[in-house]
Amino acid sequence: MNQEAPRAVSDLSNEIKEIVITADQLQQRVRELGSLISKDYDGKNPVLVGVLKGVVFFMADLLRAITIPTELDFLSVAHYAFPHQGSVRLVKDLEAPIQGRHVLFVEDVIDTGLTLNYLLNTLRARGPASLEVCVLFNKNRTRLIDIPLKYKGFDLPDRFVVGYGLDYHEKYRNLPYIGLLKPHIFHKD
Ligand code: IMP
Ligand code: MG
Repeated sequence: MNQEAPRAVSDLSNEIKEIVITADQLQQRVRELGSLISKDYDGKNPVLVGVLKGVVFFMADLLRAITIPTELDFLSVAHYAFPHQGSVRLVKDLEAPIQGRHVLFVEDVIDTGLTLNYLLNTLRARGPASLEVCVLFNKNRTRLIDIPLKYKGFDLPDRFVVGYGLDYHEKYRNLPYIGLLKPHIFHKD
C-alpha cells in the first residue's frame, strides 16, 4: 500500500489577486463576435490568421462560434530587443498564399500596436481581397499606431493581465478568465 502523505496541489488561481473578466463574460463575447463574423463573411470563405502562441485559446473558441466555412492559418514571430522595438522577424510564415483571399487577422491583445502594424503591412503586400482585424483585448492608452479594428472584444485598462492565452513568463495562459497577478509574483525572479 502507498503510504505517502497527500501532496498539496499548486493551483495557479492562488496567484491571482483579482478577476477582471470572468470566463462566462469571455465566452459570451466570443460567441457574439463569432456570429457577427459569420454574417459579415457569409459566402466569402475567409481565412483567419493568428500569431502564435497567445491567440490559440481565443482562436479555438472564436472558430467554434463561427457557423460559415472558415480556414485557419498561423504566423510566429520573434521580437527584436531595444533599440529595434516594433520590428519583428517571421519565424514561421503562413502555410497558404492569401492573394485574393478575405483575411481576418485575429489578435489576443493590442498594446502599442507596433507588432500588429508590422504584420498587417507584411500581409497587405501579398494582395489579399480584404484585410481586417479582430482583437479580443484592446489597450487604448498605450497605442502608438492607429489601427482600424473591425471587431473588438473588450477595452482593457492599461494594466498587465494574464489568462485566456495571455502569459507572464509563459505562465498563466491556461486560466479560463482574465486576472491581475498578486504583486509578489513580479518580485520573484
Ligand atoms: P504590441 O501591441 O506590439 O505592444 O504587442 C502586444 C503584445 O504584448 C501581445 O501580443 C502580448 O504578447 C503582449 N502583451 C501586451 N499586454 C499584455 C498583458 O497585459 N498581458 C500579457 N501580455 C501582454
Ligand atoms: Mg500576442
